Amino acid sequence: MTDRKVALITGITGQDGSYLAELLIEKGYTVRTASLVLIILFVVYKNHFGQFLTKIFIFFSFFLSPSLNTLPIFHPLINQYHYYCYYYYEQVHGIVRRSSCFNTGRIDHLYRDRHDTGVKLFLHYGDLCDATNLIGIISSVKPTEIYNLGAMSHVKVSFDMPEYTADCDGVGVLRMLDAIRTAGLEKEVKFYQASTSELYGKVQEVPQSETTPFYPRSPYAVAKQYAFWILVNYREAYGMHLTNGILFNHESPRRGRTFVTRKITCAVARIKEGLDKTLYLGNLDAKRDWGHARDYVEGMWRMLQEDTPDDYVLATGETHTVREFVEKAFAHVGIIIKWKGEPGTVEEEGVDASDESRVLVKVDERYFRPTEVDLLLGNPTKAKEKLGWVSSTPFDELVKEMVLADHAMVKGTAPDCEKLHD
Ligand code: NAP
Ligand code: GDD
Repeated sequence: MTDRKVALITGITGQDGSYLAELLIEKGYTVRTASLVLIILFVVYKNHFGQFLTKIFIFFSFFLSPSLNTLPIFHPLINQYHYYCYYYYEQVHGIVRRSSCFNTGRIDHLYRDRHDTGVKLFLHYGDLCDATNLIGIISSVKPTEIYNLGAMSHVKVSFDMPEYTADCDGVGVLRMLDAIRTAGLEKEVKFYQASTSELYGKVQEVPQSETTPFYPRSPYAVAKQYAFWILVNYREAYGMHLTNGILFNHESPRRGRTFVTRKITCAVARIKEGLDKTLYLGNLDAKRDWGHARDYVEGMWRMLQEDTPDDYVLATGETHTVREFVEKAFAHVGIIIKWKGEPGTVEEEGVDASDESRVLVKVDERYFRPTEVDLLLGNPTKAKEKLGWVSSTPFDELVKEMVLADHAMVKGTAPDCEKLHD
């Protein structure tokens, strides 16, 4: 393994990809740039500082560079002289799918034109279904860490597009692993695979941990199970540093709007502002272990800092129903939901407790799944003990942050990161 730090993220335009790119840039993946620039400056101006001071400074800039890099006083220097060590500056790379309109809304705040100084994020067109393209990108970027977050990630949609889901989410991982081998980087790269709690499906034990048997319940989960095992096989067969992160649901204001949490918080904001009347949902009794995406990308990073690859569950250790999420989200805009009708049927509805003629939530069977995952509850003990990782955003705080963000977006006081997707 090398001490270069060059990360490649597939799925960088998605929820997790955007938080991870932010995290890696924040973590100072430009550390060596700072030290090299400072060394060059001190070598050039050594007559001013004297040989002894220069040597001492070089020593410290090598060994204390992380702390030097974070000092704002050095940022203008780093930006001004970055071309002296351009190689080290190209630290975070992302693969973006070609689209007829921009699909980079979630990372636009990180992206700068390549002709500017201080560029930290580089984007490449690519697709997990195109092996030649993946070999080309990996061979030229020569990453030291790859985070494979790209996927057709919607469970319900996977029933409509099972073949594509298998190709992208299952075989796509095989393509990535073989691209690493073709590029001759199997001893250089640490690889993270976005595995999922959906593998537990029809759960065989509660809570679910790394040792719980899998029982996938959708084409999405079956594809991800192939990905899980091909990764384990390549790890054992070729001694590669490959890690499965078995992540339970994680949400944020950047969550795609067709996932249930964001669908709810968007609807709550629009109903509050009088733009919509009713929110239509499927199974209100499904239970999920919901955390915050920002916490979970930190866990992904920690997994790849380990010397030995392994598989880890990331979860909060709490579970809540969709119904509870609905109640809490409406409560944040001052609306109390009262449930009426036969629970668990399409007859059930949620009305405004202060004006029961207002039907705010209805059940639409179109959102039911052919096979449902009723209960997910993770046991994150291994991640806590080995990585020192814990989920730090409580459920109530997560719901509140998402509702406030969507309310601000609907009122036009905050930008809509997805507006070009509409
Ligand atoms: P997301 O918001 O749906 O993002 C998916 C990303 O994958 C997007 O950047 C998307 O590009 C890209 N993508 C889709 N098809 C692709 C293809 N054929 N080639 C290359 N890239 C492709 O998902 P997320 O919530 O960030 O989740 C990230 C990963 O973690 C996914 O693999 C997901 O299955 C897994 N996961 C998520 C959770 C969760 O609760 N969020 C839990 C466990 C596992 P576009 O922007 O162009 O669509
Ligand atoms: N999407 C959606 N829309 N889900 C609904 C709705 C609705 O209108 N009504 C009820 N639900 C229920 C679903 O049936 C499911 O039980 C639960 O809400 C959560 O659905 P999603 O938010 O779509 O997430 P998911 O759990 O199916 O999948 C997410 O988490 C997985 C990890 O467990 C995705 O991010 C997957 O990519 C990820 O692997």
